[in-house]
Amino acid sequence: MSVQIAAHLRALPFDDAIERILVDSPTIQARIQAIGAEITEKYRGQDLLLISVLKGSIVFMADLIRSIDTPHEIDFMATSSYGSGTQSSGVVRILKDLNKSIEGRNVLLVEDIIDSGHTLNYLVRMLQERQPASLRLVTLLDKPERREVDMNVDWIGFSIPNDFVVGYGLDYNELYRNLPYIGVLKPHVYSGGRVEQSKGLHKRKED
Ligand code: PRP
Repeated sequence: MSVQIAAHLRALPFDDAIERILVDSPTIQARIQAIGAEITEKYRGQDLLLISVLKGSIVFMADLIRSIDTPHEIDFMATSSYGSGTQSSGVVRILKDLNKSIEGRNVLLVEDIIDSGHTLNYLVRMLQERQPASLRLVTLLDKPERREVDMNVDWIGFSIPNDFVVGYGLDYNELYRNLPYIGVLKPHVYSGGRVEQSKGLHKRKED
């Protein structure tokens, strides 16, 4: 993205960038409370480690852990897709690994969105090799239309259409993560950059 376009985005008021609110803040919070209650019942009195996949899931993670009414630990991973030539193979690069071993632990992997499923599929295979006692998945958003790899997800906040969504942790060009709702970006906002349609409409290739 050019310096000019990046500056334009920073100067654009949110109201001029967002076409419509797809999931509003009270709806998100209510769903998280419901998921948190289910997770609490599932793990009450047991070991539990929540792993957030940076960066998109941090907002969901922050609210989710406060909706879980049983003691648990948290950790973080950061991933990045390889170039377009290897994306179809689902290989992701680990930019930040976990701080501690997960062997014998009950792990809950926390994502903001599942699109093709490649990221989660890779992470699940990698984490299973580390022999956790259990490994479950929770995602705030799911785009079933985009799925290329079948995933068995234990908790899904919302299934959404294949719109370009931002907010509540999700970004366009690293912006809009701070919006308290899930919004659909106006096409003119992302048409200034090269949007990578093939990997999912919430993604945009880095220049
Ligand atoms: C998003 C999201 C998932 C992944 C899902 O991360 O947080 O990790 O894409 O896409 P997939 O199902 O097609 O693999 P992104 O690469 O946008 O990074 P970010 O979380 O730092 O914004």
